[in-house]
Amino acid sequence: MRRVGLMAALFLMLALTACEHPGSPRSTPVADQTFAESAEMQRRGEWLFRRGVRPSCHACHSLQAGRTIVGPSLAGVGNKGEEYLWRVITQEDVPPTPGFADGVMPVRVYAKWREEHEEQVADLVSFLLTLR
Ligand code: HEC
Repeated sequence: MRRVGLMAALFLMLALTACEHPGSPRSTPVADQTFAESAEMQRRGEWLFRRGVRPSCHACHSLQAGRTIVGPSLAGVGNKGEEYLWRVITQEDVPPTPGFADGVMPVRVYAKWREEHEEQVADLVSFLLTLR
């Protein structure tokens, strides 16, 4: 009788360790983790776009197609690609969007921000890439 109880306890222990083993099918696949991580970046990026960055992007850019505030609407801007977005936000050597004045967007301020918080610019860019 005693031995049966011991066996049961041993079996239970084995079953529990098997569940926590990283190689077990219950652990999250890598693709899902990457997806969750990028969703999290996009969420933070949207917050940065709307409120977190000073001066606020949202004050000058609408996300509605054809609606100009100070700068162009950013509807569809994700199609221009990641590299373009990094450059246009933080560098001065990008030609202005046709029909808009150069030097209005405070890229120097954002270049400084990038030096200190590159990971936040990455969040912002990953949000902008969803605008397609
Ligand atoms: C003071 C107003 C102002 C602010 C604040 C501002 N922008 Fe701009 N932005 C402009 C203007 C004007 C242009 C068009 C001229 C140019 O390209 O410099 C522009 C252009 C852009 C473009 C290029 C659009 C295209 O279709 O190629 C992107 C992308 C952009 N801004 C993103 C941002 C982001 C992201 C922020 C916040 C971090 C921001 N802007 C803050 C005024 C602003």
